Amino acid sequence: MQLERASLETQGTADSGSVRAWDLPTRLFHWTLVTLIVMAYVSRHWGDAGLVWHKWNGYAILVLVVWRLLWGFVGSSTSRFASFFYGPLTAVRYGLDFVLGRPRHFLGHNPLGGSVVLVMLAMLGVIGALGLFAYDDHDALTGGPLSSRVSEAMVAFATKWHLFMFDLLLWVIGLHILANILYRVWKRENLVQAMITGRKEARPYEDEHDANLASPWLALAASWRPAASSCEERRGGAAAGGDRHTRALPVAVVLLFLRLRSVSKWR
Ligand code: HEM
Ligand code: HEM
Repeated sequence: MQLERASLETQGTADSGSVRAWDLPTRLFHWTLVTLIVMAYVSRHWGDAGLVWHKWNGYAILVLVVWRLLWGFVGSSTSRFASFFYGPLTAVRYGLDFVLGRPRHFLGHNPLGGSVVLVMLAMLGVIGALGLFAYDDHDALTGGPLSSRVSEAMVAFATKWHLFMFDLLLWVIGLHILANILYRVWKRENLVQAMITGRKEARPYEDEHDANLASPWLALAASWRPAASSCEERRGGAAAGGDRHTRALPVAVVLLFLRLRSVSKWR
């Protein structure tokens, strides 16, 4: 399978002083996620007495997280988990280098930032899944579609952890935003602009010099047509065996969703 050459050209090096860092789907994912999380909080506290908006908002976040999981295997080089899955020691060492003012530059996520990204995605998945079992017995008197299918103890557990983990997530998000500010004011590196424009200043990055972008159309069809990464291409199409699995996942998600609809009363 080939990366979409045409798309590579359109998203390619428009000006020679910068290189490609983030593809359009990843950027859209990020800013949509931010909007939905803010709305999850705001809607819960203002004007969504029946939790109607909150629940659809929560499903949308779950869909985004599942999509990001797929994109982490078939997406552009900087979006792939393999490109920012580092060990804890590497992350700590990077953190020390950062604090001690030893500049190290990464085109994709740096080892510490990448770990925080993985933690945020995992937490969002868990919070969303717990929400399916949570129930609001003091205010809206409604709950997730699976709350009527499990024991009261389980509902209480899910509700408690749904709320608690969201509070924890707020701290992690705070760190994430603080790191971006530190990069801007201390290291003079504008990571936020890169997450908007998709481009970073050209320099000798440790991970790669220019991102290998997958087609944005692939993002829509991520389930059916996984792109080969540059390293897979180098390995001579070793991805072929993995296609079956990347196809099976979204089918499983759709089946699970239909199953949820049929078992729940959608209160
Ligand atoms: C990852 C996505 C989600 C986020 C970030 C999120 C976040 C939140 C927040 C901030 C609250 C209010 C906490 C408070 O009152 O201080 C809440 C409550 C609640 N959420 Fe979610 N939620 C998500 C997904 C879901 C889903 C998918 C459902 C169910 C379909 C759900 C069901 C509930 C319920 C029933 C409550 C009320 C619990 C209570 O106040 O006792 N949530 N959620
Ligand atoms: C609800 C709040 C937020 C959440 C949950 C969140 C989550 C994430 C996630 C999951 C990624 C990884 C993107 C990917 O690889 O798919 C990311 C990256 C990034 N986010 Fe956020 N984000 C939030 C708020 C913000 C805000 C407010 C800013 C700007 C100040 C920001 C700036 C960035 C930047 C610059 C990156 C790329 C970091 C890098 O270069 O390694 N984020 N964020």
